[in-house]
Amino acid sequence: MALDVGDKKMSKRPESDAFVFFGATGDLAYKKIFPTLQSMIRRGKLDVPIIGVAKAGFTLAQLKARARASLEEHGGVDEAAYAKLEKLLRYVDGDYNERATFEELRRQLGGAAHPIHYLAIPPSLFPVVIGHLGGSGCAKDARVIVEKPFGRDRASAKSLNETIHTVFDESDVFRIDHYLGKETVQNLVVFRFANTFLEPIWNRSYVESVQITMAESFGVQGRGHFYEETGAIRDVVQNHLLQVVGLLAMEPPATTYREAIRDELVKVFRQIRPLQSKNVVRGQFDGYKEEDGVSVTSNVETYAAMRLEIDSWRWDGVPFFIRAGKCLPVTRTEVVVALKRPPLMKLAPGKGNYLRLGLNPHLNIALGAQIKRPGEAMVGEATELSLLHHDEADEMSAYERLLGDAMQGDPALFARQDAVEAAWAVVDPILDESTPAHSYERGSWGPVEADRLVEDVGGFAEPKERQ
Ligand code: BG6
Repeated sequence: MALDVGDKKMSKRPESDAFVFFGATGDLAYKKIFPTLQSMIRRGKLDVPIIGVAKAGFTLAQLKARARASLEEHGGVDEAAYAKLEKLLRYVDGDYNERATFEELRRQLGGAAHPIHYLAIPPSLFPVVIGHLGGSGCAKDARVIVEKPFGRDRASAKSLNETIHTVFDESDVFRIDHYLGKETVQNLVVFRFANTFLEPIWNRSYVESVQITMAESFGVQGRGHFYEETGAIRDVVQNHLLQVVGLLAMEPPATTYREAIRDELVKVFRQIRPLQSKNVVRGQFDGYKEEDGVSVTSNVETYAAMRLEIDSWRWDGVPFFIRAGKCLPVTRTEVVVALKRPPLMKLAPGKGNYLRLGLNPHLNIALGAQIKRPGEAMVGEATELSLLHHDEADEMSAYERLLGDAMQGDPALFARQDAVEAAWAVVDPILDESTPAHSYERGSWGPVEADRLVEDVGGFAEPKERQ
C-alpha cells in the first residue's frame, strides 16, 4: 500500500538554498533546532548557508558557542558535523521591528534565490516579521515555516493566515506540528489501513471507546510566561492530540493524489462536535502559581481531560477521550482503543480486548486479551500481549524530518490552513477559562473531578510500559 506520506512531492520551487531561523538565541533553537541542524548535516542533508536572526546583542562567535552548548546538552557534539555547521552559520543581530535588520538579512542571503525562513518566535511577532520579509525582498521565491501555537483561537488563526498570505502563497507555508513528524504517529496510518485484521473492526460496531493520554512527568520547565498565555489546551490539545484523533478516526485516504491524508484529516476535525464545558475538566498542578512568570491568581490549566464526540457514520456513539497534563506520574503518550465485549461475559470477567498504541517515547503495540485461567474452572483471565517495541535509537527526529521536508517543499506532514482553523473550532467554546482549573498533586494522575468523564467506560486507561 503506497500512501502519500513518504513520497516526495515535486514542488514548484527547487530545494531551499538558504536556511534562515528567527529566534536563533531562544529556547526552541537551543533545545531542538541546533541538534536538528547538526543531525541533518551529519546525514548529508544540509549544505546551504544557515542564518540565525535574533535581537540579543550577540556576535557570530557567541552564536557558535551557544550552538555548541546546545549540542552538548541535547544529544552530543559530532565534531565533523559541528565543524561544518560552524562553517555554514551566519548571524544577523537586530530588532524585528526595524527594516535595517531585514536589509542586513538580504545582504547575508547573498546569491540564495529560494531561502526558507523559520519563525521560531512568539506568534505575536509573526505579522511584523512577515511584513518585513515581504518589504525587504527576502520573501521572494521563498518558503516560510511557522511554529505552533498557530493563533490563540479560530479568529486569530484566520487573521494570521491572512497576514501570511499577503506575502507567501499557501504552497510555500509550512505550519509545524511536530507530532506529525513522529514516526510513531505516522505509523497510525499504516497500521490502521494496511492490516486486514484491523480494518473491518475499526468502527462503531466493534470499538467501544478511544482514549489518548499525553502524560508528562515534568512541569513547565521555566516556560511559565509562555504557559500563562497558552495552557494545555492550546499547547498540545488543539494541535498534537487532535491530529492523533484525526489519524485514528479518518477515512482511508485515496492513494492517488497528494493531499489525500490532509483532506481526510480536515473532514474529521469538522465532524468533531465543538466542545462544551460539561465535557471538559481542567486542572492545575500544585505549585504552578509559584513558577516564574505565572500569576498568583492564575486559572490556566496544566492538565485537561475531555470527551469528544465525532458525528460521522463510522464513529457515531463512540466517545474519544483526550487527557494531557504536566507533572503526571510518567512521560508517555499513548492510545488505547477498547473493543466491545463479547456476549459470554461469564467466561471473561474484567476488561475486554483493547489495543494499546504507545506513541512516545517509544513505539509499542500491545493487545489486551483474555486467556483461560489455569485450573478446573472454564474462566478467562485478562492478559496483555506485548506485540512490538521499538527503541528508535537512530531514527530521524520529528524536527529533522519536518525541516528536511519543508526545504524540499513537501507539505504532507504539515498542518494545512483549513485543518488548523477546523481544529480551533473544536476547542474554541472552552478556551475562555470560565471553568475552574482544579488543583492536583504533582506526580498524581490529575484532578479526581476528571473521573466522571470516563465513568461509563470503566475509567481512564493507565499508560503502561512494555510488560
Ligand atoms: C510541545 C509543547 O509542542 O510539545 C510542550 O509545547 C510539550 O509543552 C512538547 O512538552 C512535547 O513534545 P514531545 O515530542 O517531547 O512529546
